[in-house]
Amino acid sequence: MKLEVLPVVQGDYLLQNYDETAADFDWKDAEKAFSWHETGRMNMAHEAVDRHANSDRKNKIALYYRDANRNESYTFHEMKKWSNKAANVLKAHTNLEKGDRLFIFMPRSPELYFALIGALKMGVIVGPLFEAFMEGAVYDRLVDSEARAIVTTPELLSRIPVDKLPHLETILLVGDNVEEDNKTVDFMKHMNTASPYFKVEWLDKEDGLVLHYTSGSTGKPKGVLHVQEAMLQHYQTAKWVLDLNEQDIYWCTADPGWVTGTSYGIFGPWLTGTTMVVLGGRFSPGAWYQAIEDFGVTVWYSAPTAFRMLMGAGDALVKDYDLSSLRHVLSVGEPLNPEVIRWGAEVFHHRIHDTWWMTETGAQMICNYACLPIRPGSMGKPIPGVTAAIVDDNGEVLPPNQMGNLALKKGWPSMMRQIWNNPEKYQSYFLKNEWYVSGDSGYMDEDGYFWFQGRVDDVIMTSGERVGPFEVESKLLEHPAILEAGVIGKPDPVRGEIIKAFVSLREGVEPSEELIAEIKQFVKKGLAAHAAPREIEFKDKLPKTRSGKIMRRVLKAWELDLPTGDLSTMDD
Ligand code: PRX
Repeated sequence: MKLEVLPVVQGDYLLQNYDETAADFDWKDAEKAFSWHETGRMNMAHEAVDRHANSDRKNKIALYYRDANRNESYTFHEMKKWSNKAANVLKAHTNLEKGDRLFIFMPRSPELYFALIGALKMGVIVGPLFEAFMEGAVYDRLVDSEARAIVTTPELLSRIPVDKLPHLETILLVGDNVEEDNKTVDFMKHMNTASPYFKVEWLDKEDGLVLHYTSGSTGKPKGVLHVQEAMLQHYQTAKWVLDLNEQDIYWCTADPGWVTGTSYGIFGPWLTGTTMVVLGGRFSPGAWYQAIEDFGVTVWYSAPTAFRMLMGAGDALVKDYDLSSLRHVLSVGEPLNPEVIRWGAEVFHHRIHDTWWMTETGAQMICNYACLPIRPGSMGKPIPGVTAAIVDDNGEVLPPNQMGNLALKKGWPSMMRQIWNNPEKYQSYFLKNEWYVSGDSGYMDEDGYFWFQGRVDDVIMTSGERVGPFEVESKLLEHPAILEAGVIGKPDPVRGEIIKAFVSLREGVEPSEELIAEIKQFVKKGLAAHAAPREIEFKDKLPKTRSGKIMRRVLKAWELDLPTGDLSTMDD
């Protein structure tokens, strides 16, 4: 496939449509892109798929999908048809109603996208689950959300503790020769015979869309709920930040199990009618470059860890591929080192644009949007319609160049609307009912560029994935040899951070290399591979407060040879 090479017209959309000096941008203006501007009724699936299928884009490719065994493409018309079928299967074989939760737990495949869009057509809230999650992690999420149905594959079925999940009524299996029973449905068999027509459920802008579970420093993972109105920001940022245009071939490397994989691996690109590439399978530098060449990818959104791994694979490899179709490269999830930007400029001939946002913000917030001159190392500036500031712990705005909490003025369209089942936790994010406090620290320079410093809590970012130390510690404590556990992020040149666990052992248990391997495997099997500690260190005793809380900050200081700071609350 050889495609016309696009000129590097980065940011033309923002330049034409938004004057940075005019502070009068209003999200209401963005509504004009959608018919619900007049009707008030909407559905993400209609706006992202059906709307294009009913237009000149009907036969435009919506999805290129490739993995080791499959190489397929689907037009917007076909996406509409298959997602209608999926909606009909869900309607016929589950009790799901508007607002109920359906989880999708499977590796990337066209069927994942059919099921997800199909569920949205019914007004169901979708909870995407990363395929690497093991039983404990799956259980926590399904139980908390009271999910009524799940779409999964026979391979992953054993990780769903069906008997312990009273709300889970239906399991839709995507695979061959599925045996059906009163709970189990052969998804593909019914897809093949289902009607390709479906009437979407019209929704209000505050109706639910997706529920993404994410980790904090304390407690179980929490369910972050996003609503239909988020589409305004998905759409606008796809234009302003991703700079998507009609001819683009766009590739987002994130899995829909993470928020990047839904907001920018489905919604943003499809709301703008853009052709998108999805690559199944594992990370492999050669396969990635090959995909860019074969599909003629023009806009590419990935993460610092991936770029650092590509960098590690060497410049010679890059030269084996024709990457000249690329015109815009972006990054999210962790600090993007200036070194990586320099490397990217050299080998891709484009400076990688950093973007900052979080599961809770639902869409990009502070970015090197396409027309903004990049300052390597800075996350960029807030997009139009978003107000960001550095505030102190009382919510007072700090002057430029002063370090503090990175905060956002409440009320952007893609802001989370709930922490599932936990209104107190939701409230705890806001200061003075005005500022959403991100948990990141940083500063703003005198020109309004934001610079990231770190997390103020103990959340670990490893290979761009967010891991809560509490979740890992809880799993470690389930191991019979372990008495106490404290988990920290340890800086790592490739992965940003790796997970390091400090553990003390029960009476009579001797430390050994075998035990280390066994504990690693235990977390891997129980939680997820990416949540397993890469390093484990045995300690006779762990530093604790008088109330018995493990002091991770002291562990971190030990690890990094830093001063331990105030120890007045430490138990002797
Ligand atoms: O610490 C920040 C880091 O990732 C956190 C959010 O993680 P998650 O909810 O998993 O979402 C990741 C992708 C949207 C933030 O609190 N983070 C995200 N982007 C950046 C970043 N850190 C530095 N630079 C970024 N561009």
